[in-house]
Amino acid sequence: MTTQYKVLCVCLGNICRSPTAEAILRHYCDVHGLNIMVDSAGTSNYHPNKAPDQRSQKHAGQRGYDLSDLRARQIILEDFIKFDLILAMDHENFDDIRILMLQAVQQFGTHQIRAKLALMSEHDHLFKQQAVPDPYYGGADGFDRVLDQCESSSQAWVDIFKKQMKAG
Ligand code: 4NP
Repeated sequence: MTTQYKVLCVCLGNICRSPTAEAILRHYCDVHGLNIMVDSAGTSNYHPNKAPDQRSQKHAGQRGYDLSDLRARQIILEDFIKFDLILAMDHENFDDIRILMLQAVQQFGTHQIRAKLALMSEHDHLFKQQAVPDPYYGGADGFDRVLDQCESSSQAWVDIFKKQMKAG
């Protein structure tokens, strides 16, 4: 039996962008019949065990995504062993995760580390290598922008996963 491919979506607080990315990427994988596990985490520990921001839940709900069961957690070094792919929502998250990855390499050794690191928007033709902007201190349009980008980037990742699986 092959082991299940695992993806971790990461932002700062794990209450706005990355839980949205988690729910959308999971949905796109399901729709395309991809057996992929999707989770999310924050680089900070600002909101441990909190449900996603009410505004994220509301805007996601308007597009049919239910975030209510998700709970925030901070990324841990073991995530670099467990996950195959870690998706950073913005460039600051990317840099913070890269530092943690170096710590994981030091702690566990290179051979134990599975995770590759990329931007959520890495292969997204509409928002190519753009940050998913942090909506936390902004207005309603910021939450819709997060949804737009997560949908577009998730479609791009699903296309990549399907190609990878075909190539074996
Ligand atoms: P997120 O948004 O990184 O998309 O979850 C934020 C949530 C909370 C804070 C910052 C960003 N905060 O400073 O508490």
